[in-house]
Amino acid sequence: MHINDEWVIDVQDLVKKFGEKVAVDQVSLQIKKGEVFGFLGPNGSGKTTTMRMICGLLTPDGGQGRCLGKDIVKEAKAIHKQIGYMTQKFSYYEDLTVRENIDFVARLYQVENRKKIVNDVIEELEFSWRDKQLAGSLSGGWKQRLALGAALVHSPKLLLLDEPTAGVDPSARRDFWDQIHQLAARGITTLVSTHYMDEADRCHRLAYVAYGHLITYGTADSIIEESGLCTYQAKGGDLFALDKKLQQDPAVEQVSAFGTSLHLCALDEAALDKAVSQYSDGPYQFEKIATTLEDVFIYLMSKNKEQKTW
Ligand SMILES: Nc1ncnc2c1ncn2[C@@H]1O[C@H](COP(=O)(O)OP(=O)(O)OP(=O)(O)O)[C@@H](O)[C@H]1O
Ligand SMILES: [Mg+2]
Repeated sequence: MHINDEWVIDVQDLVKKFGEKVAVDQVSLQIKKGEVFGFLGPNGSGKTTTMRMICGLLTPDGGQGRCLGKDIVKEAKAIHKQIGYMTQKFSYYEDLTVRENIDFVARLYQVENRKKIVNDVIEELEFSWRDKQLAGSLSGGWKQRLALGAALVHSPKLLLLDEPTAGVDPSARRDFWDQIHQLAARGITTLVSTHYMDEADRCHRLAYVAYGHLITYGTADSIIEESGLCTYQAKGGDLFALDKKLQQDPAVEQVSAFGTSLHLCALDEAALDKAVSQYSDGPYQFEKIATTLEDVFIYLMSKNKEQKTW
């Protein structure tokens, strides 16, 4: 098997089936040290399943790979010791305090110098003034921060964060991301799944999965460029009526609502220009804009829905 020490995660053709359903279909990923790598895709697309295979918690039905230089099947136990895994659902003891929860995890990992490490984590995550608060009484944002703290207790080299900011308010999400980037600056690699587009923009690189397939992979800019999409923004007038009309126009491949505007996307720029010019006499204002990551992901998701075979 090809081994590359540069990659913290290096997996090829991972497959996982649940009965007849292929939840993950030949997914390959390579992630570098210190990278913040985003994992995006609709519900049920296989993000959690892929993460669990990468960290050795689930045995793949096909494919192979290494995580932190260890074989994901044969050396799963050694991988567990070096990763911090924050699961999709809050999984700490609600009737223990913040400090007790972190201390409990430190005992599980038999962390040396436990008291100091627990204090350091509490301080780093700015928990000092609420360390005696019961976990169950924390707000959503602070619960997620506690889960991150607990995932850091044993000084992992790799963090797997599964939708760490789901349901968390924007300010707490921003703080959480600042923490992730501080950790990355210390050389900690992060694989993070999310449904938030603004978070996708904060990742060094991204992968988008749909129906178990890895559809695209790269920096936000390269994903947008490779999509080849051209985009117009439409404002003013009855956008609902415009949306209905544009849906019938074959030159407009995608129409999606973005707040108080519509985005019109197509691969054929000349055809899109022509289609838009037909509406320019009406009450609408059209402007050609840079295609966003969200436009690309909506497009890729609908294309792959059409091709879905199971
Ligand atoms: N233990 C299991 N048994 C049976 N089916 C499963 C199991 N785990 C996951 N699946 C199925 O595999 C598919 C992928 O699920 P997975 O949880 O990996 O998706 P996801 O991308 O993490 O979704 P979400 O964004 O909702 O968290 C889904 O269809 C799910 O129902
Ligand atoms: Mg999931």
